[in-house]
Amino acid sequence: MQNLRKKVSSCKRFWKLQKSGLSVEAAKENLVPVPFDSAICFSGQGQFHPLRYINALLSEFIKLGGVLLPDTMINENSFENQVYTLATIKGPIRAKKLIYATHIPPGLGLMNFRNAPYRSYVLGVRLKNQNYPEGLAYDMQEPYHYFRTQEIDGQPYLIVGGQDHKTGHGDPEQAFKSLEDYVRQYYELESVDYRWSSQYYVPVDGLPYIGQFPGADKGTYMATGFNGNGMMFGTLSAKIICDLILEKENPYAHLFDPSRSKPVAGFKEFVKENADVAWHFFADRLSPVQLKSLADLKSGEGKLVDFDGKKLAVYKDELGKVTALNPRCTHAGCIVQFNAAEISWDCPCHGGRFDISGKVITGPPTIDLETLIVSYDLPS
Ligand code: FES
Repeated sequence: MQNLRKKVSSCKRFWKLQKSGLSVEAAKENLVPVPFDSAICFSGQGQFHPLRYINALLSEFIKLGGVLLPDTMINENSFENQVYTLATIKGPIRAKKLIYATHIPPGLGLMNFRNAPYRSYVLGVRLKNQNYPEGLAYDMQEPYHYFRTQEIDGQPYLIVGGQDHKTGHGDPEQAFKSLEDYVRQYYELESVDYRWSSQYYVPVDGLPYIGQFPGADKGTYMATGFNGNGMMFGTLSAKIICDLILEKENPYAHLFDPSRSKPVAGFKEFVKENADVAWHFFADRLSPVQLKSLADLKSGEGKLVDFDGKKLAVYKDELGKVTALNPRCTHAGCIVQFNAAEISWDCPCHGGRFDISGKVITGPPTIDLETLIVSYDLPS
């Protein structure tokens, strides 16, 4: 059950939900001790354990003759005589159809300008009382928050998430702190046991892109822009792409077509997101920023610095080892920013992420950042 709060004044929204066939009603009670003006309750919802779900799908896939090759980077692909050949370090893979189910397609393309990368934060906390909610509740604040309960080995945890911001644009440490401050307003905490963050892509018009890859050979498909709803849209993608391959009608194929020529709605968002990307794209090249000196670096800290006429992404670990990387993202050249919560370098343009040694953690970049200096002493 989901419980939406605040300004659902939106009788209009409520009415639209009912009209679309969803089982919704005005909430009679609140799932969580957060004050609200009005709330909608979605009844009859299922709850899935994401890993059990994906593992069950995987075992069915393998039973049907599928093969899983973990940790196998596809370096390039070619298409000849109706067959794709994918080059990997484990040897070539040949296929008649190619589906990019890769969060966002690698490389630089249209989808990077149609999807904005966001980071989202989560805490797993124990409560002093047993006031754990029986369902999923989320508010409609900006940034938003949600609550649910997860039991591990008989111990319930309150999962609280939100404080999302565009990748490379916010302060992850501050986001975790704000999330904790928020949950403490409403619950008495015994302990904060877990914290993590994740990345998702927000499509410009709110709908994912699922179907034939625009501009690619027929038989190349994509599924991206799930806006944090991967279980639902992943399943829908499988249905749509399966029907496209089998040349069957699918009632949703047109709606989610990646080639839709204009956003379904939210053009203003499209302009805003891309103005942001464009700003970084040019500002990072044209106006060198005044950066603090290397001498300010503390253990566990990363910074962009100007050193010897070069802009460097510098990180000093707990043992004093300093790694200086070329901060220019290998995807399209924007300058990466340090993420102190995850100890990573995050790109503000399309959400690429690198570890402190420069290795790609999250695409679309496929090439590591260039390592310039690795030293055990700060240059004086
Ligand atoms: Fe595109 Fe970095 S992810 S420039």
